[in-house]
Amino acid sequence: MTLSIERPSLEQLAALLLERAGLKITPDGYYGLRLALQARMPALGITDSAEYVGRLKQRAGEQELRSLIPLVTVGKTEFFRDTRQFLAFEKNVLPQVMERGRLEGRQTRLWSAGCATGEEPYSLAMVALERGETPATADVWATDLNPAATESAARAFFPARRLVGVSEERIARFFKEVEGGYELVQPVRDLIRFEGHNLAAPMWTQVQAKSLDVIFCRNVIIYFDQPTIVGVMERFYESLRPGGWMFLGYSESLFKISTRFEMVEVGGTFAYQRPLQPNRRAPAPVTTVVRPSAPPPPQRSPTDVESVLRNLKRQAAIVPAPPRPSAPPQPLLRPRPPPRKTPVERLAEVVEAIEKGDFPKALRTVRALADEEPDDLAARLTLGNVHALMGNLDEAREAYQYALSREALCVEARLYTALAEMQGGQLEDAKLELTRALFLEPTLAVGHYLLGQVNERRGDNDGALRAYRNAISQRKQPKHDLIGHFPDLPRSNEAIAQAAQYRLAALSER
Ligand SMILES: C[S@@+](CC[C@H](N)C(=O)[O-])C[C@H]1O[C@@H](n2cnc3c(N)ncnc32)[C@H](O)[C@@H]1O
Repeated sequence: MTLSIERPSLEQLAALLLERAGLKITPDGYYGLRLALQARMPALGITDSAEYVGRLKQRAGEQELRSLIPLVTVGKTEFFRDTRQFLAFEKNVLPQVMERGRLEGRQTRLWSAGCATGEEPYSLAMVALERGETPATADVWATDLNPAATESAARAFFPARRLVGVSEERIARFFKEVEGGYELVQPVRDLIRFEGHNLAAPMWTQVQAKSLDVIFCRNVIIYFDQPTIVGVMERFYESLRPGGWMFLGYSESLFKISTRFEMVEVGGTFAYQRPLQPNRRAPAPVTTVVRPSAPPPPQRSPTDVESVLRNLKRQAAIVPAPPRPSAPPQPLLRPRPPPRKTPVERLAEVVEAIEKGDFPKALRTVRALADEEPDDLAARLTLGNVHALMGNLDEAREAYQYALSREALCVEARLYTALAEMQGGQLEDAKLELTRALFLEPTLAVGHYLLGQVNERRGDNDGALRAYRNAISQRKQPKHDLIGHFPDLPRSNEAIAQAAQYRLAALSER
């Protein structure tokens, strides 16, 4: 099917996405927009972009817009995104899984799930090549829902501006300059297979049980609702070999999702590991620390894979956190320094300070955390919230904007911005932000409730009544756990429905 995608349609589409979802797409991002259209237009049997945009503008176009939006953010990826995770992968995880593959006489298999335009799997392949791996020893499987993204990735061509994050040394070794940009050299390309794959499908026919050593699935599950994430994690668990590793995006976690994985601190970051033995009871995820500087494991028989893994595990010190029922305590090789606080623990301190009303302490702690962990969405949003609570509305807006620049579809950033605008009396802006949040997540009860409040303050009683009724009708929807902390916000859908009932009653008495 030949598609015609014209510049005016891209401009109209960018305007529509800004209006409805608050997504700012500059002409620099039209490339991503074009890729998204290449995926969606054939799905609707449309060949002309003007017709597609016309369809979106109709009332029934809302559903299509929701299908388009995740694809539009496809450009949000970069080479070696999150340096700390890549260092942990390079120094700790890859050597371990390569050794295991070698001992078992097979390829080591890595999966970049939701690979977008290829920056992530190419980064994995570069690290593997630096270790001297070849297609005989390592395989990188790179998949995405968006066929236009994987097609673009397979071309292995990147304009110079997309090489941010790649060292001069790596550019010299792995890229060759071509007209308009750079192309990856053949040895990097030879390690990777690009394919289409829908992670949200209930069964993965392309993936065998216990066949993978490492999964990178970063900044993808943000698009899924909770039941989908639970299903995806179950399938990831089944596809990993026991002892295999999984990396999620910085602001993503398995909290309240899965207790089957162990959460392991590796080289100053966190990864999830499928335990060698399944957890008998379902404990909270166990936290262990892998120390990169630990001495090498003792000599072993070259074929005893279990003992290699046990020795590698011996380099791990179990942090006192929830003890694992089946694992006896591991001997420590050296006196253990006090464990570094995890971002989650540091954020818990911030929440405690907020709840005590100690905003200066909350601000100090959360600012340091957000500076050190620029990808930590919860820290960034909470930073904005602390600023808002202290009346620093400009700083609050700046923090939310930053969060949106990392995650364009961050519903919480919209919601908290609306709260800040309400605080500053900017009711039209608050309404716009809430409309965008609700466009992205129509079942967000707290969003409907706040919209009711904004409408009341704007003197729009009908709008307020509608919004409160919508809030009440979300009562049976699964609860959305908001990223970031804002005190006194009703969190359960039941509490929100009750608050909305009171407002409805008060409004009808007027
Ligand atoms: C923000 S990009 C993340 C790219 C890369 N993993 C990273 O962290 O830089 C998210 C990708 O997830 C893909 N995606 C969204 N839903 C998906 C699904 N159901 N199955 C597979 N990929 C999906 C999108 O097409 C997009 O390319």
